[in-house]
Amino acid sequence: MYDYKIDAADKPMMYRDLASALRGLVDGEPDPIANMANAAALIWETVPGLNWAGFYRNVGDELVLGPFQGRLACIRIKFGEGVCGVAAQRQQVQRIDDVHAFPGHIACDSASNSELVVPIVKDGKLIAVLDLDSPDHARFDAEDEAGCVALGEILARAL
Ligand code: SME
Repeated sequence: MYDYKIDAADKPMMYRDLASALRGLVDGEPDPIANMANAAALIWETVPGLNWAGFYRNVGDELVLGPFQGRLACIRIKFGEGVCGVAAQRQQVQRIDDVHAFPGHIACDSASNSELVVPIVKDGKLIAVLDLDSPDHARFDAEDEAGCVALGEILARAL
């Protein structure tokens, strides 16, 4: 059994502990679905204030739902559509304080108010996006972004 209960004093430390736990989980495991599934569970259990945490995979230049924690979600998202699709198309982090003000935002759960999407890129190719949603307004700050980018870099090597 894995026991990765993280109880860090501050946010940068929480993300450092999270990165270290994630490295341990994916080390030596080549299966991308297993690695995304454990990553989603680890993030869900560790990062407070989320109502969704998970992945969309790049399948033939379309985003297709991957492992996640939270409520049921839309299955396919075209590149350029919604927060995830824009992150995928531009290979650029999207940190959105108010998703209702984002043109084309896809409301999988009406409770979501802010969102952080991190593209996972290997050798210039988009593999997946990591998507975190929160019911809080402006839930994600620069420390969350830096922490999740670091998780994305670990996952880029493990997917
Ligand atoms: N809100 C996302 C869709 C995915 S769900 O949040 C899980 C978007 O606009 O891309």
